[in-house]
Amino acid sequence: MHDIDPDDSLSIGEVAARTGVAKSALHYYEQLGLISAERTLGNQRRYARHMVRRISLIVVAKRLGIPLTDVEEAFRTLPHDRRPSTSDWRKVSTTWRATLEQRRLQIERLERELNGCIGCGCLSMKSCSLLNPEDTLAEEGPGPHRI
Ligand code: FES
Repeated sequence: MHDIDPDDSLSIGEVAARTGVAKSALHYYEQLGLISAERTLGNQRRYARHMVRRISLIVVAKRLGIPLTDVEEAFRTLPHDRRPSTSDWRKVSTTWRATLEQRRLQIERLERELNGCIGCGCLSMKSCSLLNPEDTLAEEGPGPHRI
């Protein structure tokens, strides 16, 4: 516990109100180590003001469909004791853009495969590219592989 300056920190209620994130979610993010809080002598959580930026980034990540495990990885490089710099944010957003790009390419590929299936209906384990992408079953040798 520390002697925390109330003018330079926010209560969990204030953080929840500013970010729109539920208190329970803030507790969870804290458990994951994505954010951190100090405790007052009365055992109340106090968040440094710059934590709002980290929480905003978690909100953005959720909106982009970035899993929390990826957020954890990105946050490992961000400072806990100060507001992340523009360059810190640039690194994180560049990584996430690459993730989104990969996902977009994957969705496009799945779309193409699905187009090939529309009107087919064979659902063949051997030849349907949705069921057997890149003929992975062939790598397992001849004979049935799935029930
Ligand atoms: S259902 Fe026939 S190729 Fe996918």
